[in-house]
Amino acid sequence: MMISSDKEVKKDYSNPLEEIDALRHEIDRCDEALIQIFQQRMRLVMEILENKRKNNLPIFQAQREQEVIQNALKTLKEKDYADAVEDFLIQIMKISRKLQSRKLFPYNIVLIGFMGTGKTTVGKDLSQKLSMDYIDTDALIQERMGISINEIFEKYGEDFFRKIEKNIIDEISATKNTIILCGGGVVLNQENIPKLRENGKTILLKAQPITIYHRVKEDHSRPLLKGRMSLETIEKLLKEREEAYTTSADLTIETDGKMVEEITSEIITKLNALAKEENPCPKS
Ligand code: S3P
Repeated sequence: MMISSDKEVKKDYSNPLEEIDALRHEIDRCDEALIQIFQQRMRLVMEILENKRKNNLPIFQAQREQEVIQNALKTLKEKDYADAVEDFLIQIMKISRKLQSRKLFPYNIVLIGFMGTGKTTVGKDLSQKLSMDYIDTDALIQERMGISINEIFEKYGEDFFRKIEKNIIDEISATKNTIILCGGGVVLNQENIPKLRENGKTILLKAQPITIYHRVKEDHSRPLLKGRMSLETIEKLLKEREEAYTTSADLTIETDGKMVEEITSEIITKLNALAKEENPCPKS
C-alpha cells in the first residue's frame, strides 16, 4: 500500500471541499496502513508471549516498554509530535497487555483475604499491569446504597450487609476478564466462592495478624473493628475464618514484607503456572 510522501506536489484545488475530500482520502489510506502494521505488531507480541510462556520467562516487563518509547523517539523526525507519539505507544502497549492477559488468563482474577491484606492496592496494580478492569465489591455496595459500609452496618446490621454482598457477588460473577476485589467477609457465605469460581480463580492474600494490625489501626472505615481495634480481635477473627479462607483459595500469596510489585508479579507467575498445568497448549 502506497502512502503519499511529504514531498508530493500539491494540486491546486479550485474548490476547498475538493481539497478536504482529497486529504480525507489520504487519511483513510494512512489508517489502512496503520491497521495492517498494528495487526502485524500484535501478532509479534503474541508470538513473544508464547515464547516467554514456553521458557518460563517473566511476561510483563515495564523496562521493555520504556525501551520501546525511547527507541521510537530517537528515530522521530518531527519533534513536535514527541508527546503524541509517546501517548500513542503507551496506548498500543496497553492494548498489547490486554490481549496478552486475555490469552493468558481468560477468566476473572478474584482477590480474597482478611481486611488489611492488601487486596485493594494489589488489585489496582494488577489491573494496571494486566490492562484488566477491576471491580471492588465494597465500593460497589457503597455506590448502590449511597452510604458507607460503616453506615450500612450501623443502620441495617451485618446480616443485611451480607445479603447485599451476596447479591453483588451473584451479579459480578458473570463478568469476564475482570479483577474482582472482595470484602474480607465474602467467604462467610458458602455460596459466594463457588459462584466466583464459575468464571474466576481465587487468590488468597495472607498476612500475619501483627502486620494486619499495623495496616488497619488508624483506619476507621471497618465496622467489625470499630471500638475493638486490637491485635487480639484480629487474631480471633482470623482464627474463626481461617478454614473458610484456606478452602476458598485456588492460590495463596503471603504478603508480609513484600512490595506491591513483588506480590503482583508473584500472582502473575503463579497464575501462569496454573494455566500451563490446566492447558499446556492454548489455542491461538
Ligand atoms: C469485612 C471486610 C471489609 C468490608 C466489611 C466487612 C469483613 O472489606 O467488606 O467491613 O467481614 O472482613 P475489606 O476486607 O476490604 O476491608
